[in-house]
Amino acid sequence: MNLTQQDRKWAEQTVEKIRAKMHTVAERCGDKVPYTTKDGVFDDRSGSEDISWWTNGFWGGMMWQMYCLTKDDMYRMKAESLEKKLDAVLTNAAGLDHDNGFKWLPTAVASYRVTKNESSYNRAIIAANNLAGRFNLAGSFIRAWNDWGGVDHRGWAIIDCMMNLPLLYWASEVTGDPRFKQIATAHADTAQRCFVRDDGSVNHIVEFDPFSGEMIRTYGGQGFKVGSSWTRGQSWGLYGFVLSYIHTKDEKYLNTSRRIAHYFISNTPESGLIPVDFRQPAECAWEDSTAAAIAACGLIELSKHVEGRDSDVYLNAALKLLKALDEKRCNWDDGADNLLEKCTAEYHSDEHEFAIIYGDYYFMEALLKLTGQELFIW
Ligand code: GLY
Repeated sequence: MNLTQQDRKWAEQTVEKIRAKMHTVAERCGDKVPYTTKDGVFDDRSGSEDISWWTNGFWGGMMWQMYCLTKDDMYRMKAESLEKKLDAVLTNAAGLDHDNGFKWLPTAVASYRVTKNESSYNRAIIAANNLAGRFNLAGSFIRAWNDWGGVDHRGWAIIDCMMNLPLLYWASEVTGDPRFKQIATAHADTAQRCFVRDDGSVNHIVEFDPFSGEMIRTYGGQGFKVGSSWTRGQSWGLYGFVLSYIHTKDEKYLNTSRRIAHYFISNTPESGLIPVDFRQPAECAWEDSTAAAIAACGLIELSKHVEGRDSDVYLNAALKLLKALDEKRCNWDDGADNLLEKCTAEYHSDEHEFAIIYGDYYFMEALLKLTGQELFIW
């Protein structure tokens, strides 16, 4: 990576700040499965009502990253404990969905990559089989969500799912069975055709007729409205397509990721701080730091896979996002459990701008990518 000496120094110093803070936070966190904080203290999603929550793998991913960085067994044991807690989800059909990748890539697959543990392999293969089983042949898409809130989701697909495909790529790699990868690329092709707009922005939700496969409509989803540009959705698409390129070497996925990246870069405000939706009303100042951290990870990967000037453009765009987070949106006080501030789950919600665990995960991953110390999770 073409980091200047100054940027390398900044990245190394930031990793040191993460290392110092995480030691205190992880010790204090005990056996929790955190999602957000209340007054700076992590909540705990490990109860039977909450254990299926889609973000429950990220703390495990942070613990694996920290274990690989420090070789401190405290982190490995915490990651392994969290992975076992997720077994309650593997045996509950209603808790399994398109987000199996988010739950078991940073936990079971990470564990298998590091330890070659057979139980972790077993969990991840069960999760991959279930994810593959969500594929709808008619529309060639992986179904998002189970039915909740009285809504029929049989024909719904979401851009976020691009980040779950690596569970299928991994399953094909380790089993030698091409079915998983075939399903992943079929879904990625549909996403490329139906989610990515001409200007490089992406839809959050696309609904298909689950019987004929015909595309019916799009929804604004967690963004401002239909046709708007939910920033975390842009980030999932940007990072997700470059990951499909990494696993398949098919240039069309690289080019799709680049188109989304160009749109993201040209809409990034001078401050480097990212709004919840690039098309939210001008008077709305809500931010989403998670979108910035995820986009930075995707941009760093892009910078590794293209040559020359473009590589620098992606790397510099990632640095701008990460430095803005470090300087203005990181809580470096080790009395608070979270790293990032001002994360937003969705535009139309009562709560905005709080701590969210996947923001912390991707911020950590991005910094470790820069210093070459990342455990590759996806
Ligand atoms: N995958 C759901 C979200 O990004 O909020």
